[in-house]
Amino acid sequence: GKVVLAYSGGLDTSAIIPWLKENYDCEVVAFAADVGQGDEELQGLHDKAIATGASECHIVDLKEEFVKDYIFPTIKTGAVYEGLYLLGTSMARPIIAKAQVEIARKVGADALCHGCTGKGNDQVRFEGAFAALAPDLQVIAPWREWEMSSREDLLNYLAERNIKTSASATKIYSRDANAWHISHEGGELEDPWCQPTKQVWTMTVDPLDAPDTPENVELSFANGVLTHVNGEALSAYQALVKLNTIAAAHGVGRIDIVENRLVGMKSRGAYETPGGTVLMAAYKGLETLILDKRSLQFREQLGLEFSHLVYDGRWFTPLRESILAAAEVFAQGMTGDVVVRLYKGFAQVVQRRSPNSLYSEDFATFSKDEVYNQKHAEGFIRLYSLSSRIAALKQSGGA
Ligand code: ARG
Ligand code: SIN
Repeated sequence: GKVVLAYSGGLDTSAIIPWLKENYDCEVVAFAADVGQGDEELQGLHDKAIATGASECHIVDLKEEFVKDYIFPTIKTGAVYEGLYLLGTSMARPIIAKAQVEIARKVGADALCHGCTGKGNDQVRFEGAFAALAPDLQVIAPWREWEMSSREDLLNYLAERNIKTSASATKIYSRDANAWHISHEGGELEDPWCQPTKQVWTMTVDPLDAPDTPENVELSFANGVLTHVNGEALSAYQALVKLNTIAAAHGVGRIDIVENRLVGMKSRGAYETPGGTVLMAAYKGLETLILDKRSLQFREQLGLEFSHLVYDGRWFTPLRESILAAAEVFAQGMTGDVVVRLYKGFAQVVQRRSPNSLYSEDFATFSKDEVYNQKHAEGFIRLYSLSSRIAALKQSGGA
């Protein structure tokens, strides 16, 4: 048989290669997705996979597709999980799983394998995608099968087989990075009363060390798509990279969260989403000009619903298509410019304009106006509150 493994080059997936060969008597095809995690993780990955015993290693560039088809649709729904988490890892799993299935078809594999633990969300996201896209392929999740439980076990396992690794016995944090974010879990973070130490953060400067002068960044959108940053036309991915650089320097996008995992337990994480935080703030700033009250209320509901859908690993479902279709109707009107001020960890919208703006100074002004007759409000309020009036009169015996 042939198994395609979602491979990162880390200790876990390195140990999985020989383990699969021994326990499933199969050929192992390594697969890695470039979702913008950075060259450090991808450099030398091919040779490393082969040296560890894989017969082939496929590295697929998904950067533009990830930003265009996963991140932007999610922004259009406004999804934020449990009020804080911008879903960086959750959004990446389905695109990685989809590309993995495509490799499996190409090489004629009969099984798919991942290195997620049996305690987390990621296993659900991978296998939820596998189920929808390749129900015929067997799924192998070594962490739910083998007896090994520590980094030392894995290192010994590789050493016994004379497989070289640069992995160390101690690694404090479990991290997951892509173009949108990096997550940090484990170490001192496992105690929710423990503040994250300086060594947790890798993508952003400490807001306390950020420049004393604020910086404004201008984002331009056309039909819900980010087209320019500070007037420069950029692809979706390039725009995000640029925003990451600008925002990270101001310490923007750090969160510290205790979240509910799908499998029932709570976990504590520290995540960094610098560019994404600016992008989300800008998009929502534009919405405030364009969406009427009821539309915005509904869009907020879409975002809440979508945050759970993505977090819970239900990307390849009709519900995802349905929510995105609804969000796209609103997104079509999202054309305009927004200026966000970055200052010591904060990203605040300070300017916005749009040809589709419903904002009217003529109506909103506190000065004398010619367009709004205040007398009309009286009848509106009487009917609007009629049921309260009837109930109150009834209680006092007056009706
Ligand atoms: N708790 C976050 C989520 O479920 C981050 C998970 C990070 N995954 C990882 N393999 N380190 O989306
Ligand atoms: C894992 O358990 O593999 C990482 C954390 C998660 O998936 O929630």
